[in-house]
Amino acid sequence: MNLFDVYPLFDIHPIKGEGCYIFDEQGNKYLDFYGGHAVISVGHSHPHFVKKITTQLQSLGFYSNSVKNDLQVELAKKLGELSNCEAYNLFLCNSGAEANENALKLASFQNGKTKIIAFRKGFHGRTSAAVNVTDNAKIQAPINKTFKTELHDFNKIETVEASLKTGDICAVIIEGIQGIGGVEIPKPEFLEALESLCKKYNAILILDEIQSGYGRSGDFFAFQKSKITPDIITIAKGMGNGFPIGGVLIHPKFEAKYGLLGTTFGGNHLACAAGIAVLEILKKENLIAHSKELGNYFLQKLKTIEGILEVRGSGLMIGLEFDFPIKEFRKHLLFEEKIFTGSSSNPNVMRILPPLNITKKQVDFFIEKLETALQLIPIPSPI
Ligand SMILES: Cc1ncc(COP(=O)(O)O)c(C=O)c1O
Repeated sequence: MNLFDVYPLFDIHPIKGEGCYIFDEQGNKYLDFYGGHAVISVGHSHPHFVKKITTQLQSLGFYSNSVKNDLQVELAKKLGELSNCEAYNLFLCNSGAEANENALKLASFQNGKTKIIAFRKGFHGRTSAAVNVTDNAKIQAPINKTFKTELHDFNKIETVEASLKTGDICAVIIEGIQGIGGVEIPKPEFLEALESLCKKYNAILILDEIQSGYGRSGDFFAFQKSKITPDIITIAKGMGNGFPIGGVLIHPKFEAKYGLLGTTFGGNHLACAAGIAVLEILKKENLIAHSKELGNYFLQKLKTIEGILEVRGSGLMIGLEFDFPIKEFRKHLLFEEKIFTGSSSNPNVMRILPPLNITKKQVDFFIEKLETALQLIPIPSPI
C-alpha cells in the first residue's frame, strides 16, 4: 500500500529528538525552531514526559468515557490553575480541528443560530465546520459549505459591529494570534470590543488558542494580554507536546447535558498522562515566563538584523516578513545550517516556533546563522 500523497516532504528522516534538537538517520543534528508546527512545547522526549507516559502505559493506556477517569480531573485542575481559567469546564478531544468543531457546535446549541464570523487568513483546522470558517477555498469540499460564514479583516471592529448588529450571528471565532496567516496579532482593544459586542448581540466568542496557547505567546493564552473572558477557548498542539490531545474550555454559563458532546478516544488515560506531564513541566521549569523573557530578547535581536522587512510576534511565536519568497531560504537554513523553520500562508513570511525551553545560546546561534544566510541572498537552491 502507498501513502495518500498530500504532504510535500523534505527529504529528511528524523529518528530521535532531544530537547530542542532532532537527529536524522545519518546522525545529522538539527536545531528545531519550528517545533513540528508549534507542537513541541516542553522539548522533544523530555524525561518527565517520557516517564509519565511510559508508566501510564504500563498500568492502563485506555478505557472509554463510560467510567470515571481521575486523570481527566487532575488534568483539568492543573490546567485551570496554570492558565488562571479555573472557572471553565473542560471537554477533552484529540486535535485542534476537533476542538474547534465542538466549540462551533456548542455555540450553535447555545443560541440556536448558525451564521459565523471569522477572519481573513485565519485557520481553524480541517474538519467540516472548521474549514467552513476559513477563506481558503482549497480546503473546503462542497459538503463542508453547510452554514454561512462572514469573513472580516483583523483589527477592524466597524464591519464586525455592523454584522453583529443584525442579531443573526451565532459566534465569532478568532485566533489568539493568527499563526498560519503569518503571525498577525489582534489588538487588545479589538478583542475587548469584540467581547462586549458579542455579549450585546448574543453571539458566542470563541478564542482559538490552538497555536498561540500553552505559553507560546509569553502568557498562558495570548488573549490574556487583553481583559477578556471568552465564552469558549480551544486548545491542542502544545498541550500534548506531540501526543494527540485537544480540549475545549467552556464557560460555566453553558449547561452540560449527557450526550451533548462525545468522543471515543478523547481524554483517554495515556493522553491525560501526556497532558499532565506537559503542565507539570511548564510549571516546574517556569517555561511561560521563560517564553516571555527570551521572546523579548529574541524579538529585539531580530529587529537589529538588516534584510528583514518586519518582525512580529509575542513570546516564542514570531513571524519574519521578508521582501522575497522564503521557500529557498528556508531550504538553505534546513539543509546547509541544519535549522528547522516554518512557513505561513504568506510566501514571504517565516514562522519561528521553537520549543519553549529553547536557550539564549540557541537563539544567539540562530541569529548568527540567519544573518549569515541573509548575506548570501539570492540563495542557490540546495536540492
Ligand atoms: C490556530 C489553529 N487552529 C486549529 C488548528 C488545527 O489543529 P489540528 O491540526 O490539530 O487539527 C491549527 C493547526 O495548525 C491552528 O494553527
